[in-house]
Amino acid sequence: MAIVSPSILSADFGKLGADCRTVLDAGAQMLHYDVMDGHFVPNISFGVPVLKSLHKTLPDAFYDVHLMISHPLQYAEPFIKAGATLYNFHLECEDDIQQTLDAVKALGCKTGLTIKPGTAPEALAPYLDQLDLVLVMSVEPGFGGQKFMPSALDKLRWLKAEREKRGLHYLLEVDGGVDDTTAPLCVKAGADVLVAGSAVFGKDDRTAAVRRLAAL
Ligand code: DX5
Ligand code: ZN
Repeated sequence: MAIVSPSILSADFGKLGADCRTVLDAGAQMLHYDVMDGHFVPNISFGVPVLKSLHKTLPDAFYDVHLMISHPLQYAEPFIKAGATLYNFHLECEDDIQQTLDAVKALGCKTGLTIKPGTAPEALAPYLDQLDLVLVMSVEPGFGGQKFMPSALDKLRWLKAEREKRGLHYLLEVDGGVDDTTAPLCVKAGADVLVAGSAVFGKDDRTAAVRRLAAL
């Protein structure tokens, strides 16, 4: 069984609470919350206040917060106070990685690191023993609805082997172009958590979409 983390970037923001409730009721174990700053990526999404409202409406959900921002250190505290369960930032950001991980841990939040398609998984090696989750991007971050890049599969395989070799416990997550065709390949390559935006919120029957992915 895979963990499904629907990306709410593809939800209807006019009824965000209801959209999130639907996918949680369908069995999604996380909500993937994509934060974009218009600098690290060429797009702007939503920030702390929206997470705060969502958390108020759905206090028991697991908020898988994916920070596509240049400076995750200064935003760790506000996002974690707003309800982030996992603070998942990019290895390619401009802040000091260790300092940011330390800040997240000190705030009592789970830690995640993400790599873009151009980054080798070996670059994560110094941090792997401190992480609750590693996210492999299978598209260039910034937009939903892009085509899956199969180069992510080798990275998942490497990270899975490394986890085993070192006796570590991080979850492996994949994000971008994950749908009914590509998700089985990701699970086979080692993904534990499937992020899906269009493949869930773009469907008429979102409950069935979540269930299909969760059954993998
Ligand atoms: C892309 C975001 C993704 C995105 C995925 O920058 O990080 O989470 O919403 O959308 P789909 O599943 O449509 O590729
Ligand atoms: Zn994402």
